[in-house]
Amino acid sequence: MDLSVVILAAGQGTRMRSRLPKVLHPLAGRPLLEHVVQTGLELSPEKVIVVYGHGGEQVRDRLAHLPVQWVEQKEQRGTGHAVQQALPVIPAQDLVLVLYGDVPLISSDTCRRLLDIAAHDQLALLTVELEDPTGYGRIVRDEGGSVYCIVEEKDANEEQRRIREVNTGFMAMTRERLEGWLCGLDCNNAQGEFYLTDIVAKAVRDGVPVETVSVGDVIEVLGVNDRRQLAELERRYQRMQAERLMSEGVTLLDPARFDLRGTLEHGLDVTIDVGVVLEGTVRLGDGVRIGPHVVLKACTVGEGAVIEAHSHLEQAEIGPRCAVGPFARIRPGTVLAEGAKVGNFVEIKKAVVGEGSKINHLSYVGDATVGNRVNIGAGTITCNYDGANKHRTVIGDEAFIGSDTQLVAPVTVGEGATIGAGSTITRDAPAGRLTLSRPKQITVENWKRPQKKRE
Ligand code: UD1
Ligand code: CA
Repeated sequence: MDLSVVILAAGQGTRMRSRLPKVLHPLAGRPLLEHVVQTGLELSPEKVIVVYGHGGEQVRDRLAHLPVQWVEQKEQRGTGHAVQQALPVIPAQDLVLVLYGDVPLISSDTCRRLLDIAAHDQLALLTVELEDPTGYGRIVRDEGGSVYCIVEEKDANEEQRRIREVNTGFMAMTRERLEGWLCGLDCNNAQGEFYLTDIVAKAVRDGVPVETVSVGDVIEVLGVNDRRQLAELERRYQRMQAERLMSEGVTLLDPARFDLRGTLEHGLDVTIDVGVVLEGTVRLGDGVRIGPHVVLKACTVGEGAVIEAHSHLEQAEIGPRCAVGPFARIRPGTVLAEGAKVGNFVEIKKAVVGEGSKINHLSYVGDATVGNRVNIGAGTITCNYDGANKHRTVIGDEAFIGSDTQLVAPVTVGEGATIGAGSTITRDAPAGRLTLSRPKQITVENWKRPQKKRE
């Protein structure tokens, strides 16, 4: 049977106290709702339908890249009402799975277990036993242990409130059954809402078996209502990712101080020190070592390379056995070939640096092509911007650039050329020769320091 995944995301999220709709708040760098949509898509559904309400335009704009169908719920009149809004766009023969935009870590495995039940024309509920069930709908069972109904906390009596098995909200059923049950819903309850949970009693009435699946790890059903819960979920999620990476053979000096906001592809024996933040897709080759407090965004780092403390790298390709940092800033479009070395307080942007070349201290290299085995002295600056346009600097293999040189682009330094320290190079410097631009040094004879006048 085909599947429609319905994601409820119309709630206000008042407790976030935010201008941003709750489902757009990021977990591990991605909106809560995006996590849920991705999980839904892993099930290869015919459709993913998002029911949105509060802040709807913002949500749609931010997630416009996702292949989902948007359905508006103009007034938030309850979870049952929300699913009713989606019903007209759910194809007739589908199975339906209900997910939540603010419960981001539900797994596709758990979803599949629910769908297996629904495929047998039963109503599938995901439940969990909690020490403290406060706030949740309780699963009420009859003497035989079969689910009888769900009662919301606000509608529950003393005895029902003591039940510790609660409704997580996740459910699956056929569209055909769902439609029948939804059209009979009313709002005669403590909150005056149309409860999705009321379909359980209707299933029982219709003689449709209600089967429960209990969740393996509670993290899957933890929702976000406020920023404290968001932070807690973030830490738990990061911990989970850290555990997985360690089991795959990555050394994390402290798994509690590790943040992956994207995807990490890694080789063997990668070591990551404390406080490292990885964003987007990061690839680390065998034996790569990342020092403390490094930020890597969408970078590839080759085998045996080392990124020292406090370096910040974005959209860069670092070759094998390179050394970067400490305190290096590597900006988008940087490619370092094998064995290149970039030291402290060096900024590189849109530049290719050849094999074994060194830019060890305090330099800016932008819009440049640097050959192999080039040595760039401290304080070298490629003056790539004339106030209107950017120009390129090209430096040939084995050139030596003396310290405190300005290379005013467009300019080319030939192979094996030497530039004397302190030069301002405005024209091409020929290969193999010494070029410098520097006033001659003089010593003033008979010069005396001024003396302070006596009163
Ligand atoms: C719901 C369940 C409860 C369960 C709990 C688990 C019902 C009636 N109750 O209660 O049994 O234990 O979740 O967290 O379903 N939403 C809409 N439109 C609406 C109302 C809600 O899209 O009109 C969305 C919200 O954005 C949220 C979700 O549905 O993602 C749950 O709504 P919420 O009001 O938090 O339900 P609870 O009262 O927590
Ligand atoms: Ca809730």
